[in-house]
Amino acid sequence: MLLTGIRLENYRNIAVAELQPSRQLTVLYGSNGQGKTNLLEAIYLLGTGRPFRSAKVPDLIRQGLAMASIRGQVQTAGVTSEIIAKLAEKQRRLTVDGKPVQRAAELHGKLAVVVFSPDDTAMVKQGPEARRRYLDRTLYNSNVGFLREYHDYYRTLKQRNALLRSGVTAGLDIWTEQLVESGSRLMQQRRQYVEQFLPLLRQHYRSIAGGHEEVGLVYRPDADDHFLELLEQCRLSDLRHGVTGRGPHRDDLEFLIDGRALKTFGSQGQQRSYVLALKLAELDHLQQTFGEPPLMLLDDIASELDRERIHNLLGFLRQREVQVLITTTTTVGIDPGLLQASSLYRVDAGTLTYEGSVPR
Ligand SMILES: Nc1ncnc2c1ncn2[C@@H]1O[C@H](COP(=O)(O)OP(=O)(O)OP(=O)(O)O)[C@@H](O)[C@H]1O
Ligand SMILES: [Mg+2]
Repeated sequence: MLLTGIRLENYRNIAVAELQPSRQLTVLYGSNGQGKTNLLEAIYLLGTGRPFRSAKVPDLIRQGLAMASIRGQVQTAGVTSEIIAKLAEKQRRLTVDGKPVQRAAELHGKLAVVVFSPDDTAMVKQGPEARRRYLDRTLYNSNVGFLREYHDYYRTLKQRNALLRSGVTAGLDIWTEQLVESGSRLMQQRRQYVEQFLPLLRQHYRSIAGGHEEVGLVYRPDADDHFLELLEQCRLSDLRHGVTGRGPHRDDLEFLIDGRALKTFGSQGQQRSYVLALKLAELDHLQQTFGEPPLMLLDDIASELDRERIHNLLGFLRQREVQVLITTTTTVGIDPGLLQASSLYRVDAGTLTYEGSVPR
């Protein structure tokens, strides 16, 4: 999958910007706060329909204005299409080749995207919610059908909670049963995904870190096979608190290194390598799903990886023919050989300046 061109209007701090990414590497460089991550975010939104940093639509529109747009040309299986996203105060409309995107499935597979950003590394140390969100998001990116299971469960949960809050017990059993049904399907999907994902993760971790430690990824469902019993046990406390206390909305995804928690036993470097390995496993998984490598967006990589790791990573992605966009505050430290076939853009107060490919 390739992004051959993109034009933004009134997106965050960007009034107008056009970018023609290279088939290989595109480097966006500039000082802090100039709009580099905003550009990656816009690309991600075009591919997935949503921003990777949790943000409300109005936040994406340039301050003081009513509308923003992103227009991109993508190539999938040799076929070019145009994706347009129009963002207004209360809505987000996407079209593919002029046809409105009604369901997420219609956008799916046009431009698969993997992001690696400093926020991802933070997920190691955060609570279960961040990792659960990550799991659901990656699952959704490769399997659009997952969205239905996801919404089914959370819709049912909301209804059960409303009933609990109202204190009316009539009908509670029916909602409990439905929650168990949709929750079991959700858990099944999460479990299956993690199982398929683990070998890919291990392989990438080994090649990134080169050590002999073994990483693990364990799906920790809050309820597992005993969801119904659990809900029955918690019935009184659920009624008292007016909320469903247990279930898949409490699931965690555990990151392990040599069988111990990565959060507490992994060094900083090991934590970063782990998250990068997750991202490369995502890349493999998307490539298996779509038959073509996804686009890779590496945000602020110099803050995450040392020179040697950046060099190895970019070399690996080139050999896999992955289209890559990176943001950085400086081009110093990036291998001149790798920069040679790349497009270089300077980002300055929301404007983009093409500086050519860099012969050094
Ligand atoms: N809706 C908006 N309207 C106008 N400006 C915005 C909007 N949303 C964000 N910004 C501005 O965008 C800038 C941040 O851009 P971005 O996060 O892309 O920076 P960056 O170049 O990635 O910086 P860093 O190197 O620090 O990561 C900030 O100056 C912020 O005020
Ligand atoms: Mg940034």
